[in-house]
Amino acid sequence: MSEDPCSFSSFTRCVTRHLNLNLHVDFDRRVLSGRVALTVEALEDRFTSLVLDTRDLKIVSVTTNGQAAKFTMGPKHSFKGTPLEVTLPFDLSRGQHVIVEVAYETSPVATAMQWLSPEQTAGKTKPYLFTQCQAHHCRSLIPCQDSPSVKMSYYAQVSVPKDLVAVMSAVRDGQHQDPQDATRVVYRFRQPVAMPSYLIAIVVGALESREIGPRSRVWSEKELVDKAAFEFSETEAMLKTAEELAGPYVWGQYDILVLPPSFPYGGMENPCLTFATPTLLAGDRSLSNVIAHEISHSWTGNLVTNKTWEHFWLNEGHTVYLERMIGRRMESEQFRQFKAMGGWKDLQDSVNTFGANNPLTNLVPSLQDVDPDDAFSSVPYEKGFALLYHLEELLGGPEVFMGFVKSYIQMFAYSSVTTDQWKDYLFTYFKDKVEILNQVDWTGWMSTPGMPPVKPQYDTTMADACIALCLRWTKAKDQDLSSFKDSDVKTLSSHQLIEFLSLLLQEDPLPLTHVKRMQEVYNLNSYMNAEIRFRWLRLCVRSKWEDAVAMALKMATEQGRMKFTRPLFREVYNFEKYREEALRVFVAHRAEMHPVTAGLTAKDLKVDSTQTPSL
Ligand code: BES
Ligand code: ZN
Repeated sequence: MSEDPCSFSSFTRCVTRHLNLNLHVDFDRRVLSGRVALTVEALEDRFTSLVLDTRDLKIVSVTTNGQAAKFTMGPKHSFKGTPLEVTLPFDLSRGQHVIVEVAYETSPVATAMQWLSPEQTAGKTKPYLFTQCQAHHCRSLIPCQDSPSVKMSYYAQVSVPKDLVAVMSAVRDGQHQDPQDATRVVYRFRQPVAMPSYLIAIVVGALESREIGPRSRVWSEKELVDKAAFEFSETEAMLKTAEELAGPYVWGQYDILVLPPSFPYGGMENPCLTFATPTLLAGDRSLSNVIAHEISHSWTGNLVTNKTWEHFWLNEGHTVYLERMIGRRMESEQFRQFKAMGGWKDLQDSVNTFGANNPLTNLVPSLQDVDPDDAFSSVPYEKGFALLYHLEELLGGPEVFMGFVKSYIQMFAYSSVTTDQWKDYLFTYFKDKVEILNQVDWTGWMSTPGMPPVKPQYDTTMADACIALCLRWTKAKDQDLSSFKDSDVKTLSSHQLIEFLSLLLQEDPLPLTHVKRMQEVYNLNSYMNAEIRFRWLRLCVRSKWEDAVAMALKMATEQGRMKFTRPLFREVYNFEKYREEALRVFVAHRAEMHPVTAGLTAKDLKVDSTQTPSL
């Protein structure tokens, strides 16, 4: 069995089958305390010790089958954390189980958690806690085998102050008054489907919910809940479409939780409860591709999981492929082609940012001594999609290739896979087309940095208007500026407006006169759609429009989605006159930022990232 370069846990010798969690949430100290009981199966005879992943945890005691057990903590690694070695007072034979129970406490600086003060919430009166475990942060929440190669079911009981609500990536299993403290409530959860540790998630806050479908509710603070219910009203239609494509949805419930603005991602596929950024609430239901994406992970990612983070493209590439198949069914083939073209451009941007020789632009990169958060980019998403699309074209089109994807899901459901296993199955499934498969430049696609060896041809019907308008602006002389009219953009959908701005961002900066005229005729400053606003403000800062700097920094700090916050800070930082301003604003906001966002932005802006924020 292959090793996981991001985990210390001994999963070749044993695997966790079930996890039972009992936690007490302390908002005053910003810690979780309690215990976890892991049901561990030995994979070899004379099994006498195991290693768990931890990060910044305080281990109080360890028992094995109820007996006190010896444990030692190894040296701390910068991003892998601290191995916890447990010695069993007996030995197990292959196939036997032991219950390892660890009493512990988390740290206020745990990288999986963000603790928000009441002022940082929509309601302004109650504190809030959320977790984000992917890729390797679960170990700062729970001592466990924190590798996506290990799958377990879980049960959890979480005690919180009774004016707050807890939700998790599982099915809700009722609540009761905390027997130890009448001011608190214990929420119970069960996740009967085996899943990797990175999908464990907890949120505690003043939450409400609304029903949006037969198996779906939307959760958020009450200030946002009706807007969210409107924005995500297509959820059941998407779930049905996904089931037609990929097979039955096995997780029972599919709820969506809208987080506070500092949530670092657009969406996170936590089972039974997708997490979503509030920046999706554009008011026009136009950003629902994120939900199509997270729904798709219910099959690719959550059922079939990458064995290590080196095979992350198996999760994200297939999920983008499914997401776009949902778009094809619910909108049109032209819409899918349009999105695919946009994705190719995102890939180009990532390759440019990393550098075309950077090994992190490989589809299957080595992550030996690489922090998965540093490796994150559009490459696994869009190089992965481009490969699948290329294969689709070679092997007979969308219906034929979707047949393979569905069969791959069935074949590897409930397990974790490597790229080699995926490829072997591809050759098995298409055994009649092996000559075609043998012509694919596998080395070029999989283990060569830079852009893929083949550029797919996409239908440009929906992109033509964006390309034409982009060209008009880049070619325009000052005397042509009067020819631009607000009607230029009135006929574009929000998708097309986003694409138009993305195209401009790939060109040399427009002259300042041009962006000023663009504001005059299109009034893009008034757009609240985050995808539009983000690109527009970058464009303005790039053209050195000083008025836009404050707006860019405001967007970078009022929400914390890394896809927006990091490039906005970088853009202002690259505007020399405002570099100090970017640094000042970052340092001023650092303490209330999400720990991962703060750490990565510090690296982007070359600020000392060892300095921990004051609490
Ligand atoms: N699973 C990812 C988010 C993630 C990846 C978190 C790696 C931590 C580490 C999620 O499914 C995702 O890809 N979100 C995208 C959505 C987009 C591709 C539609 C995002 O956040 O922008
Ligand atoms: Zn994803």
